[in-house]
Amino acid sequence: MVDGKTEALKKIEDDVIALKESPLYEERVKNKYFPVIGEGDYSAQIMFIGEAPGKNEAKTGRPFCGRAGKVLDKLLEEVGIARKDVYITNIVKDRPPGNRDPLPDEINLYAPFLDRQIKVIKPKVIATLGRFSMQYVMNRYGLERELSPISIIHGKVFAVPSEASAKLGCGDVKVIPLYHPAAAIYNQKLLKTLEKDFEIIPSILS
Ligand code: URA
Repeated sequence: MVDGKTEALKKIEDDVIALKESPLYEERVKNKYFPVIGEGDYSAQIMFIGEAPGKNEAKTGRPFCGRAGKVLDKLLEEVGIARKDVYITNIVKDRPPGNRDPLPDEINLYAPFLDRQIKVIKPKVIATLGRFSMQYVMNRYGLERELSPISIIHGKVFAVPSEASAKLGCGDVKVIPLYHPAAAIYNQKLLKTLEKDFEIIPSILS
């Protein structure tokens, strides 16, 4: 039987697929790329939010399946969390050409789909990966006053204020900003920082 979550997430997927007004739509068609909607447990307690799909992701339609994904898989494994038990997505669902940073207009266009995913899945914890998702989520979910550079607030846990939670229908949720796993590919020090920050996750879930 199709439950309400499956149906609602399928509708989000259909809406992203139909997003012809996106400046990234032409790239999708030209390169035979897929939009990357997200994957994982629809009732996950934790949701990871990256930036935008890279080439591997756009070719397969799966988030974090390339090199950054390998780092994420290892970080999850080290703290005993199975990838199938979490939900992983990005703010921007189509690949920006040449792996450039997503533009503000692109973030604004795709962010409502992310908000809908959060509202359906209702995770207990949102872990943002990198500064783009950190900035979007903290600004949108009533944590704008806590926003600082990622070098200062990575690994800190912020509770979404009840007014924002009521307005956005996201339930009781905490946000933990984390560095993007891609940044740790060639940077051992940052990898250690990410590993330490990941250790916090199981304790905020229980
Ligand atoms: N980087 C991201 O931000 N997201 C992905 O899905 C892959 C790499």
